Amino acid sequence: MSVQNVKKNINQRHNQVDFNKILDTEFEELNKAIKVAKHDYHTFTFATIDSNTPQQRTVVLRSFEKRKNEIAFHSDLRSPKLNQIQLNCNVSALFYDKVRKVQLRIIGKAVTTKNDGELKKIWCLMKPDSKLCYMGPFSPSEKLDYFQPNLPIHDADNINVESNEFGFRNFCRITIKMKSIEWLKLSYEGHKRILFHFTTKAQPQWLAT
Ligand SMILES: Cc1cc2nc3c(=O)[nH]c(=O)nc-3n(C[C@H](O)[C@H](O)[C@H](O)COP(=O)(O)O)c2cc1C
Repeated sequence: MSVQNVKKNINQRHNQVDFNKILDTEFEELNKAIKVAKHDYHTFTFATIDSNTPQQRTVVLRSFEKRKNEIAFHSDLRSPKLNQIQLNCNVSALFYDKVRKVQLRIIGKAVTTKNDGELKKIWCLMKPDSKLCYMGPFSPSEKLDYFQPNLPIHDADNINVESNEFGFRNFCRITIKMKSIEWLKLSYEGHKRILFHFTTKAQPQWLAT
């Protein structure tokens, strides 16, 4: 049988796939992961470009908006990734669910929000212990001559108005407006890989694994 025919046969056997169902499942998992800290999608790797050098770090998934194809996390305005995004908003996010053996490789544009009403509501509902992370005296990634914890001098039970305002000023949300998700599902029957586009009308695209 020719290579062409083998490819055709494989296609007929494996292409009975509901693309919408695959995407909906991933969207459900992303939604679950916001609240479930043990979910593998609760944290993800967020990549920016620093001049010509890629920079990656782990962040916590805080929201997912299916209607807008957006995911978001919280951050400290003083951290270097904010400046990197301002200079180049092209970013990438990487999720891996070990249980279902699914990787999501997301490409998108990042937008920073600070000091708006919605963030204020989130800030007010935040546990005092979590707020402390935004009240440290140093900018994240700042060079130190020796170890110093980046925490305020007071504890979580003694946050005063000034410290609360300082923390909120540093608090921001980074939203990733997704351009595409590349879905990869590992399987003994043959790994499956599909590229979903959100900013063009392009149909989901099978990719070789
Ligand atoms: C499990 C885990 C979760 C984290 N979550 C966040 C987060 O949600 N937002 C954030 O800005 N940094 C988070 N960090 C810290 C970042 O990985 C990173 O060290 C920090 O943001 C400084 O990044 P930058 O210097 O690239 O800006 C987390 C780190 C770990 C290990």
